[in-house]
Amino acid sequence: MKVILQNLTKTFPARGKKASADVTAVDNFSFEIPDGKLIGLLGPSGCGKSTTLSLICGLQKPTSGKIFFGEDDVTDLPPENRGVGMVFQNYALYPHLTVLGNITFPLENLRGKDKMSREQMNAKAKEVAALVQIENLLDRKPSELSGGQQQRVAIARALVKMPRVLLLDEPLSNLDARLRLQTREEIRRIQNETGITTVFVTHDQDEAMSISDMIVVMKSGVVQQIGAPQAVYNDPANLFVAKFLGTPPINVFDGTVRDGTLYIGDAAVLSAPGIKDGEVTVGVRPEGFIPDGNGALVCRQNRVEVMGRDVSVIASHPACRTESGVIRAIISAESDISAVADTVSFSLKPNKVFLFDREMEERIPCKLS
Ligand SMILES: Nc1ncnc2c1ncn2[C@@H]1O[C@H](COP(=O)(O)OP(=O)(O)OP(=O)(O)O)[C@@H](O)[C@H]1O
Ligand SMILES: [Mg+2]
Repeated sequence: MKVILQNLTKTFPARGKKASADVTAVDNFSFEIPDGKLIGLLGPSGCGKSTTLSLICGLQKPTSGKIFFGEDDVTDLPPENRGVGMVFQNYALYPHLTVLGNITFPLENLRGKDKMSREQMNAKAKEVAALVQIENLLDRKPSELSGGQQQRVAIARALVKMPRVLLLDEPLSNLDARLRLQTREEIRRIQNETGITTVFVTHDQDEAMSISDMIVVMKSGVVQQIGAPQAVYNDPANLFVAKFLGTPPINVFDGTVRDGTLYIGDAAVLSAPGIKDGEVTVGVRPEGFIPDGNGALVCRQNRVEVMGRDVSVIASHPACRTESGVIRAIISAESDISAVADTVSFSLKPNKVFLFDREMEERIPCKLS
């Protein structure tokens, strides 16, 4: 089922005399979610992710704009008639019900031709419980489950009506790192097996990048960029997106373009043909640095960290504007780098370097070499 969001906007009115202006939680969001895909909705806290899901499932009404499921305009349809399964940010299970009771709960109030017998409900619940691998826990109460198991019960409960669209709001937020990794792979598997169009909200960019077919990056209610995870990483539309994706984050420098050459401080680092002279912001991915005795970018070397496969060089440079204040370069473990040197020189990989307008922070299209 494809889901079309058409100029979707949600404004919450200011409350009380002292309240500041209205909040536009979702601002003119248009996107056609392709059938059967998993979309990662990504952005900092308060950017409008949960509100977007509430609009799709019908718990909130848009201030303006429309929502279609396939050809059906569902904008005015109540949530229970939309065929949406949702796992909420705080996936609260009913504590007094068993796992089985929790999963069959959405089936209990089906009416008319959809009404199910107890046997049918239990059979259906067992089917989805098997999908999320909790079929041996059906008699337990939520308090007798681990966090990851509870989360899977919540997912089973969202799946039991075989929704047309599945919405998951930070479904892994309460899990430890390992379980998180495992559960996200499971979500990908379940999504593949069922083919249900899914929107997955997270503020963890690694999580979104690793399981999504496409990601949507939001900031203050406004969509910044939509695309395949790798495409967005390789080709960010603006500095916000460039900074948001990637661990460690992109390194940021003040730069200047003069006569077709890009400078960081006094160092002529790359050729930037066709770019007009002026000040720019330069983003360099951590993997964009090559230690090179003849490299133009001479930095003070603070330390070298070996972390598993990666070698990171932590360095500083007066033009560096990264929030942490330091440059973090990830280099090949085979690189010949002295851990005790005071300085390190880098040349830069042109396809790992992006230029941004200094003021507007929009990407400047260019071919660096
Ligand atoms: N019912 C509401 N009334 C007024 N303002 C609201 C309401 N719900 C959300 N907001 C505001 O809308 C903005 C977006 O909120 P939303 O919950 O969608 O963010 P989010 O991206 O899900 O954040 P988080 O990552 O913290 O869950 C916030 O500024 C929030 O304060
Ligand atoms: Mg939220």
